[in-house]
Amino acid sequence: MIPFLDLRAQYHSIKTEIDAAVLNVLESAQYVLGEQVAGFEQEFAAYCGATHGIAVNSGTSALHLALLAAGIGPYHEVITVPFTFVATAAAIRYTGARPVFVDVDPQSYTMDPAQIERAITPRTRAIMPVHLYGQPADMGPILDIARRRNLLVIEDAAQAHGAEYRHQRVGCLGEMGCFSFYPGKNLGAYGEGGIVVTNNPSFARRMRMQRDWGAEKKYEHVLEGFNYRMEAFQGAILRVKLRHLDRWTDMRRAHAARYSDELSQIGVDPPLEVCYARHVYHVYAIQTLHREQLQKHLAALNIQTGIHYPYPVHLTPAHADLGYKHGDFPVSEQAASRVLSLPMYPEMDAGAPATVAAAISHLPGFRKRPKVAQEMLQWSSR
Ligand SMILES: Cc1ncc(COP(=O)(O)O)c(C=O)c1O
Repeated sequence: MIPFLDLRAQYHSIKTEIDAAVLNVLESAQYVLGEQVAGFEQEFAAYCGATHGIAVNSGTSALHLALLAAGIGPYHEVITVPFTFVATAAAIRYTGARPVFVDVDPQSYTMDPAQIERAITPRTRAIMPVHLYGQPADMGPILDIARRRNLLVIEDAAQAHGAEYRHQRVGCLGEMGCFSFYPGKNLGAYGEGGIVVTNNPSFARRMRMQRDWGAEKKYEHVLEGFNYRMEAFQGAILRVKLRHLDRWTDMRRAHAARYSDELSQIGVDPPLEVCYARHVYHVYAIQTLHREQLQKHLAALNIQTGIHYPYPVHLTPAHADLGYKHGDFPVSEQAASRVLSLPMYPEMDAGAPATVAAAISHLPGFRKRPKVAQEMLQWSSR
């Protein structure tokens, strides 16, 4: 059995530290925000090279607050990508603004900077690139366009804790960076969580107020507010886990290197780590023309896989009113129909990539052949 991920294995590897941190919160009787959350905010912001961290109750809340702090609201447009988790677009819509999609690059699956200029209108206020799967978007050209056109850049870094763009950690490349601590993330809480990091003190102040009912002081509500506060348990747990994050990232990268080596030998193109990027492999996805067959075959061998994501956001019924149609974003649409995520978590056995690659190569009719371009998996039955 090779699970897609194994959160219990990780808990057991740091059980003593986690149990002590949780007991400490129980004894403190401070269960919402407080010392542990403030400590985590400082430590995670410093980890990203930021001066401020505003911890919240999910990555979606982080995106929502960052957009509000940037002054985004009805009649505005925010440029983003359709090949992402739905929360990216949903958070933009929470503000009343319209997500305007541009397609992704076929190699990196991240925003194609060449498509941004033509999506800009007088209503555009921000660009929200997504560091999908743990690989940073091509931030240099994105930031150049933003500077020239007077737009803000808010990074959706929900999947990219510790990823680097030209040796600089994501989160502080734009004005604000938003992270999720959903349990399966590279840095995962034991529940929901998120954070915004920024170097801008006025954005930070606004977000700090809005996450807690817009209050400047208790019961003095000066801004529209939300209950987006982080729980103390999550702050305490994330402080423990942050100390292990770089080691876990190295373990993920080692698994990815093994996968890529094994898969190349059987004619499957591994995902690309772009030259500017230090990929943190939240997801290790290959492409296949025969996804359903491959997924079933692997499941029969007790190898769990996932799909991130089967539908690009512009084709989901929930966002049909945006007016997009099939064919608008061909790269995203093709990726959504072909990507398959293989098991990936730090504690995974070092032999797992070879086992998975062997399982793929044993598919009936699958021929071992040298690496081929474009067609990731080939069956003689084609
Ligand atoms: C790219 C992306 N953005 C936003 C989110 C939302 O984060 P959360 O689930 O913590 O609200 C996620 C979570 O999966 C995500 O992957």
